[in-house]
Amino acid sequence: MVFASYLLALAGLAAHGAVAADCTRDVLAAAASAYLAGATAGKPPANLATTNFTYIENDVALDISKGILASPISIDFNRTFLDTESCGAFIEFNAASNKKPYVVVVRVYVAQGATTPEITDIEAVVTKDGDWAFNAAGHLAADKQESWPAIPDAKQDTRAVLKAAADAYLDSWGDGTVSPPFGTTCSRIEGGSATGKTGNTCKMPQFPQPFKVTNRRYIIDPVFGAVDIFNNFPFIDKAKPNGTPSTNIYRIEGGKIRYIHELTVCTNKNCGR
Ligand SMILES: *[C@@H]1O[C@H](CO)[C@@H](O)[C@H](O)[C@H]1NC(C)=O
Ligand SMILES: *[C@@H]1O[C@H](CO)[C@@H](O)[C@H](O)[C@H]1NC(C)=O
Repeated sequence: MVFASYLLALAGLAAHGAVAADCTRDVLAAAASAYLAGATAGKPPANLATTNFTYIENDVALDISKGILASPISIDFNRTFLDTESCGAFIEFNAASNKKPYVVVVRVYVAQGATTPEITDIEAVVTKDGDWAFNAAGHLAADKQESWPAIPDAKQDTRAVLKAAADAYLDSWGDGTVSPPFGTTCSRIEGGSATGKTGNTCKMPQFPQPFKVTNRRYIIDPVFGAVDIFNNFPFIDKAKPNGTPSTNIYRIEGGKIRYIHELTVCTNKNCGR
């Protein structure tokens, strides 16, 4: 029944309202594991696309074998999230016990509709000694105390709700009239320092005006209420007032932000501050 399956395929496309095709969690999870295996071995992942593969580390395009994967990384902890719409996974990993400690958020993409975990793009925010409030051991201890279980289907927020909550937090840094939906407990890990577990310690002071967090790129996993925004953080790095590579990951439950982790790259030690 070739004709019937053709109609079904068309109906499927119409339901998505776009030509872009989703990816399965299985394919994305396999791509993420391949990245972690490569990082552990100090090699590019085995299943990189042979044409047009791109690797970007801290906003600079590099040969993947020249970036952090040039040497084996001893990974202490990771959290991995999957976005079936953007066909990307994001992995936060902590390598506190590595010879050169790192805390990294990396994105691993496959092609739209891919049915195998062939990786087309990898983009990473890599932090190490000298970056903003960097302390891999502090990050590891605080991160391990958090709980990010899967959220039952009926309680999952929509992508729009998750994105709006995450954006409101970044918007609030420069606009005091924006009030992000913080949970009753909301805690942040900034570099390697944690703001504390009691009440809402996520609210940020205002930065000097004008202040706009630009170049926001999103990965959203509604199953875990997880959002990652890669962005360019202005002001903080004295050598890059227009914005330095930065990432914020969020855990959002019932529309409320519970956890935020920020990593920010500095040109000079602690961004010259
Ligand atoms: C690779 O990228 C080029 C330039 O964007 C494009 O023309 C070409 O079709 C791509 N090749 C594949 C196999 O995707
Ligand atoms: C990443 O985390 C998962 C889930 O906790 C774990 O099973 C896996 O071994 C970790 N991978 C690495 C390389 O540490």
